[in-house]
Amino acid sequence: MKVIAISNKKGGVGKTTTTVNLADAIAHHFNKRVLIIDMDPQGNSSLHALGHEDTPDTTIAEIMANPRSMTLDAGIAPTIAENVFIIPADYRLEETDDNFVGKRNRSTFLSGLLSKMESQFDFVLIDCAPGRSIMYENAVMVAGHFLVPVEPDDFSMQGVGSMLADVVEILDDEIKVPLNIFINKLDNRLTATQKTHKALLSEVPQYYTGELNIRTSSNTRAAVAERKTVRQFNPKLEINNDYFRMAKHLVEG
Ligand SMILES: Nc1ncnc2c1ncn2[C@@H]1O[C@H](COP(=O)(O)OP(=O)(O)OP(=O)(O)O)[C@@H](O)[C@H]1O
Ligand SMILES: [Mg+2]
Repeated sequence: MKVIAISNKKGGVGKTTTTVNLADAIAHHFNKRVLIIDMDPQGNSSLHALGHEDTPDTTIAEIMANPRSMTLDAGIAPTIAENVFIIPADYRLEETDDNFVGKRNRSTFLSGLLSKMESQFDFVLIDCAPGRSIMYENAVMVAGHFLVPVEPDDFSMQGVGSMLADVVEILDDEIKVPLNIFINKLDNRLTATQKTHKALLSEVPQYYTGELNIRTSSNTRAAVAERKTVRQFNPKLEINNDYFRMAKHLVEG
């Protein structure tokens, strides 16, 4: 079971869009069972992947608050995509951090919960909230791989630098697992894309993985409006090749 955290401290860069479409690509093209864990109280991946707005009673918040009496099984729900499941989240996750303040091992509860799921899923994709929280620490501690979408703009490097510093601080160690930074919403015609590409190459060459860049496509939003993945929305769109390439990288890597 590979656990992948999709993370960037900056909001709106494409963490959720990548999580849902990548999960679909891994399941569809490679016949794998994928679990999404929504770790964002905004609940965006839940709204998209569940395909409806009624969040189930059991969310990641209840399970994290009762890690000794509950298992992740209790929260697993089917999604719009075959072989993709989700443990949803909603605004209630905002209060979950309060249960953990001052607790010993406060960052390893998710790791303990996931260790019981080993045989059920091939991939676990954690859609992290922007910013830093105890829930985020739990995602970092269990991640065997990080995917970091970066949006081409003048401030893109700030989110990256700050996120990398957080991860090192949480791990209390250097990052020893694969970490791929990629440009999301890539549009080579824009100078912002060129600038971000150059900045990533010069500042984080060890992490920047340009072959995983994902082009810009307004169809990602149109697909959400129809509660579909972008592949279900239109399998002929070129952006599907980008999600396929990323899925292949993870399955074969
Ligand atoms: N490849 C893409 N092309 C065009 N638009 C995109 C692409 N990826 C994401 N978007 C759009 O960018 C916006 C933000 O995307 P998303 O919600 O995935 O970001 P996020 O990082 O999860 O945000 P948050 O930090 O709030 O959780 C959405 O409107 C989404 O449709
Ligand atoms: Mg999001």
